[in-house]
Amino acid sequence: MSELIVALDVSSAAAVEQAVDALGDAVSFYKIGLELFSAEGPAVVRAVKSRGKRVFLDLKLHDIPRTVERAVKSCAALGVDLMTIHAAGGKAMIRAAKDAALGCGSPAPKILAVTLLTSLDQSDLSDLGVARTVPEQVRALGALACENGADGIVCSPMEVAAMRKLLGPDALLVTPGVRPAGAAVGDQKRVATPGQAVRDGSTHLVVGRPIMQAPDPRAAALAILDEMRNSGV
Ligand code: C5P
Repeated sequence: MSELIVALDVSSAAAVEQAVDALGDAVSFYKIGLELFSAEGPAVVRAVKSRGKRVFLDLKLHDIPRTVERAVKSCAALGVDLMTIHAAGGKAMIRAAKDAALGCGSPAPKILAVTLLTSLDQSDLSDLGVARTVPEQVRALGALACENGADGIVCSPMEVAAMRKLLGPDALLVTPGVRPAGAAVGDQKRVATPGQAVRDGSTHLVVGRPIMQAPDPRAAALAILDEMRNSGV
């Protein structure tokens, strides 16, 4: 069964508390990204964990293997459940992240790889000296990550069916860009409904504004959960 992760795209601990209170028992998994982590630090992870929630810490680590290994250990000590690294850090870095997670006892944080930032296009790839097309690069980095120990990848709902095929049944496929039918698309360019994402093989749906900015966030979350449950999977 796919899970819903609500993106806490806010910049203060007070706003986090307000959101987690408003969503109550409807939501048990939250994403903390760079903005919030930079503002509030590890304390905000502890605060969410202390309320019995799971945390996806989306810091997209990319550094030498030893530094990433030590950062993963620190995240594991905070009780992080899911976290991201850049697949472009290479085999040794991916391996080091996974080994650090496993070395932390259970439950180890699951390691997700980011393949190619969706803000990059073909001309950025060529600036970087990459000859592959965008889809080729996404597939190559996804395979590299999972062959070297990553538990899965972050991908758009448009890629999820192909990535499920490529990476097999066990890979975690975490998809932002999910919009309930009729919701504002905002700056997301490639969106799918919750039902479609689940049918295509997404294991975790990351949803921010359609819940956080809804007049009734709890009702919005429950409606998405309902659509996920009724996806026919
Ligand atoms: O508000 P919205 O539902 O668009 O938020 C989605 C979350 O997923 C945000 O935290 C955003 O940073 C993240 N994300 C994304 N698109 C990507 C990668 C990450 O929307 N390609």
